[in-house]
Amino acid sequence: MPSPSVGIIATGSALPPKKITNFDLEQMVDTSDQWIKTRTGIEERRILEKGKTTSDLAVEAARKALENSQTKAEEIELIIVASFTPDKVLPATACYVQHKLGARKAAAFDLLAGCSGFVYALAVGRRFMESGTYRKILVIGVDILSRYVDWQDRSTCVLFGDGAGAAVLGRVKEGYGFLADYLGTDGSKAEALMIPAGGTFAPTSEDTVRERLHFIKMNGHEVFKFAVRVIEEATIEGLTRCQLKIEDLDFLLLHQANKRIIESARKRMSLKEEQVPIHLDRYGNMSAASIPVLLDECVRENRFKKGNLLAFVAFGAGLTWGSIVMRWA
Ligand code: UT7
Repeated sequence: MPSPSVGIIATGSALPPKKITNFDLEQMVDTSDQWIKTRTGIEERRILEKGKTTSDLAVEAARKALENSQTKAEEIELIIVASFTPDKVLPATACYVQHKLGARKAAAFDLLAGCSGFVYALAVGRRFMESGTYRKILVIGVDILSRYVDWQDRSTCVLFGDGAGAAVLGRVKEGYGFLADYLGTDGSKAEALMIPAGGTFAPTSEDTVRERLHFIKMNGHEVFKFAVRVIEEATIEGLTRCQLKIEDLDFLLLHQANKRIIESARKRMSLKEEQVPIHLDRYGNMSAASIPVLLDECVRENRFKKGNLLAFVAFGAGLTWGSIVMRWA
């Protein structure tokens, strides 16, 4: 039997109301609005209020996606939460999401692929759907970076923001939905973006806390160079896997890490500005949430027409990267 056509049937997103502008950051670290804007394109970011957790924001996004697809929580058979900023080290944040949503019949697990997490999770979810194992899956990209950045480190704290985006995967008409995906990893560059302590390498101790090793450390320059190269390669590879070309693309939704990275990739591929939407100026880098939040914004603005060819391309810690190509149903 041929595998069923599957795709994204609805989306939802959630952003905390509290904003931190570049001017606010000027009061916290040695930085300037001008530096942040010209080097990254970011103007403000959202920060989750105290007392709320990753799963809380994920559930908010998921509820909207379920409502938009007229799906009851009990119909969901699998929940994949892409995140590297969990509620707790154990258990998976997806388990809290499952319980809070009331998705009693769903299996649930987390997937850790840094900023590539949502793309990885879609590729995994797609396989479960195409194999016929499940008919409705919830894929969530969520990261609460504000709890994992070092607010004394200007090289990272100005870059990130909190957010959550969700997608319900379901069956779609033949010829629509997911057409191809491509995932890549280069573990030799694992140290370029990491949280050094809290794992078996450096178990939590007074020393690791004092040395601030529980916060994100990044070699920004190395990730920048990698990103500029890998975006075009991942886009082309995804498209090639379904016999399509860049000229066939209607929209390219890129991981939102730096406006210079996005613009350089867009120009290299000769795409128009309106084909490569940006929300980085308002939200900063939300890691696994950046693409699903962007996707949900585009859906709410009715940007996509049925039959449009979309690609999602992400890169991040690992180093990992990946692309998804789909025809909008
Ligand atoms: O989501 C996936 C993972 N992350 C990324 O994709 C991030 C990729 N990398 C980047 O976006 C960029 O590399 C950054 C935005 C992180 C940095 O931009 P850059 O143009 O590569 O700057 P740099 O790190 O080379 O730093 C240039 C200068 C340095 O000063 P000196 O050594 O030239 O005197 C830094 O100390 O800018 C300084 N600097 C800052 N100055 C003001 C670094 N951070 C700041 C800051 N404010 N916040």
